[in-house]
Amino acid sequence: MNRNNFAAEIAIIGGTGLYQLDGFENIEQRKLITRWGEPSSELTLSRFNNSPVIFLARHGLQHNIPPHKVNYRANLWALKECGVKKIIAVAAVGGISAKMSPETIVIPDQLIDYTYGRKHTYFADDLQQVTHIDFTEPYSARLRSQLLAAAENALDGGTYAATQGPRLETAAEVKKLKQDGADIIGMTGMPEASLAREIDIEYACCALVVNWAAGCAGTTKIEHKEIQAIVDKGMLRVKSVLQNFMQHNQAGSD
Ligand code: HPA
Repeated sequence: MNRNNFAAEIAIIGGTGLYQLDGFENIEQRKLITRWGEPSSELTLSRFNNSPVIFLARHGLQHNIPPHKVNYRANLWALKECGVKKIIAVAAVGGISAKMSPETIVIPDQLIDYTYGRKHTYFADDLQQVTHIDFTEPYSARLRSQLLAAAENALDGGTYAATQGPRLETAAEVKKLKQDGADIIGMTGMPEASLAREIDIEYACCALVVNWAAGCAGTTKIEHKEIQAIVDKGMLRVKSVLQNFMQHNQAGSD
């Protein structure tokens, strides 16, 4: 399935604030077109200490694709075609529960899907048989623990609520999400995680909390410029987590 040397076992999907990897050697960029359409951006094949990794900017390199318009099926399929077996999905999220304060890095272990109308499965048309993937544990336990080993001070576990966006939530919506058991909120965690499972790619999320969710911790309004400052600072830490991860998980080490 690999396309002539443009291949890696590990991929990083960058979200808001992460459009390139620092300290990685970029080898080649390629525009792929899949049977599900075009991925959000060209794929970049990079190397860290000789280990290949593929990077994809989820919202496009100019950050012009909103969460509900991302072609998740094309993104994941393109990575699969490059031989990817593990995906680290980086996401900027809002914090709901008390320990999820801005600047915290969280490796969630559960999720709840509130999105709608997204093309969320590969198993819809021309089927020979109906498939229901197991999704009890939405994130790969092995990849999560590798990520936690690379991310000093990251919080281990939490429930990610995937909302539709692109608007932020009302305070009442966040109150309801909290009652449902959500700890953090983002707009891109689904269907990315379940599509990865459908095509048998290990998937884990590295979430950076960039604001208190609406109505939490006394917030009355969420200010974009405050989020931006935390994104800028926090993504530098996320980038070093990614470097640590690569350091400890060389190609083929499994
Ligand atoms: N809600 C949803 N998605 C987000 C938020 C939020 O508060 N912050 C960053 N992504």
